[in-house]
Amino acid sequence: MTIPNLNRRTLLCGAAGLALGAHGAAPAAPAAPAAPAAAAAAGAGAADWDALARHYDVAPEFVNLENAYLGIMARPVLEAFKRNVDLVNRGSSQYLRTRFDSVEKEAIRARVAAHTGVAPGELALTRNACESLQNLIGNYRLLRPGDVLMMGDLDYDVVQDAMAAAARRGGHQLVTVRTPEPATRQNVIDAYEGALRQNPRTRLLLLTHVNNRTGLVTPVAEIVRMAKSRNVDVIVDIAQSWGQLDFSIPDLGADFVGANLHKWVGAPLCSGFMAIRASRLQDIAPQAGNTLYPDTDIRARVHPGTMDVPAVMTIPAAIDFHGSVKLADRAARLRALRDRWVHQVRELPGVQVLTPEDPAMYGALTSFRLRGKTSYEDNVALARRLAEEYGIFTVARKGPVGGACIRVTPSWFTRDEDLDRLAAAIKALAA
Ligand SMILES: Cc1ncc(COP(=O)(O)O)c(C=O)c1O
Repeated sequence: MTIPNLNRRTLLCGAAGLALGAHGAAPAAPAAPAAPAAAAAAGAGAADWDALARHYDVAPEFVNLENAYLGIMARPVLEAFKRNVDLVNRGSSQYLRTRFDSVEKEAIRARVAAHTGVAPGELALTRNACESLQNLIGNYRLLRPGDVLMMGDLDYDVVQDAMAAAARRGGHQLVTVRTPEPATRQNVIDAYEGALRQNPRTRLLLLTHVNNRTGLVTPVAEIVRMAKSRNVDVIVDIAQSWGQLDFSIPDLGADFVGANLHKWVGAPLCSGFMAIRASRLQDIAPQAGNTLYPDTDIRARVHPGTMDVPAVMTIPAAIDFHGSVKLADRAARLRALRDRWVHQVRELPGVQVLTPEDPAMYGALTSFRLRGKTSYEDNVALARRLAEEYGIFTVARKGPVGGACIRVTPSWFTRDEDLDRLAAAIKALAA
């Protein structure tokens, strides 16, 4: 692994470089983050990951294995964000009107589009994945009386709510597909295939690439192909997978996608996007009567009012930092961290691991439960014990058919010994 793009300018300026350059004033240069010698050395290996980990300021008081909620910013990104907060606060409306609104926002949108593999006109910036997905679902124009909406039991609660609201509004049936446990690539595909066959009036399907309950990776491209062959439109939630797994948006084959950048890309909170295939733009109505943009512009599909401008300005710095390590290497690293603890506990009779060993079916996130401990309360209590007795922060999740579970999510700065500590704790608790 190398960190080729972490050149000095990127690290120092990031998005702020864009803004500050426009003002013609160089920022007071913060200390350049040390590019550790190990990081410069080519070739994959533990030393390189140690070098990447040193770019993060991580709370030392606990082991953070709950990195699926917020992806903390690497130090160069955090520094860029702080400069952008200062810049916006100092320049205020003058800065927003003369620089951000008129020039920089569009440059950032184009940058994010390039990062995802779609055309600039196919992507709109949003505040988060929920906003993207709510707008796509709520403004989908093609539902007719008698049509069925379909989602999965492991989809994200807020997005399930958006599907349920759309179904209620039009008097449509809402079908929920149960993900089998244990899951395999084939039985997940079969579950959706069977549900689509049994519900031939299905018009709109929600898929989640990496669900937030078990971490299972849904074979999205296969299911999208299958759905499209039945004239079913698919909205894909890539909130957890974008930046974590090695793919670009066109790989999914989906026409409608919602994501954030504040998890696995490591941008500041309140940065996200939606993507709509150009030929399908008219199938999504403008959001909340947006007249700021013409109907032919994807930006009419978002109407957020004032955005978190410093966060948006920092997106390019986050993309630069994230892109400094090949996505395939990042994805493999996260799977290796997950394997480190899972392989120590998977065969224990008292433990159930909720993702299969198929590398195509998991990334960083994997949930487990102690056999027989299936209630949410059981798992909240277990997460508390892990935190209080072992200093390990995780989270209880509910929703899988087999019951609630504990979600474990390492990240770029997680050390092998952190995962060994978790494995030892699980062994003790399951004994
Ligand atoms: C699968 C999934 N979808 C959607 C979301 C919502 O993301 P955001 O916080 O960007 O709205 C999350 C957040 O955890 C998630 O895990």
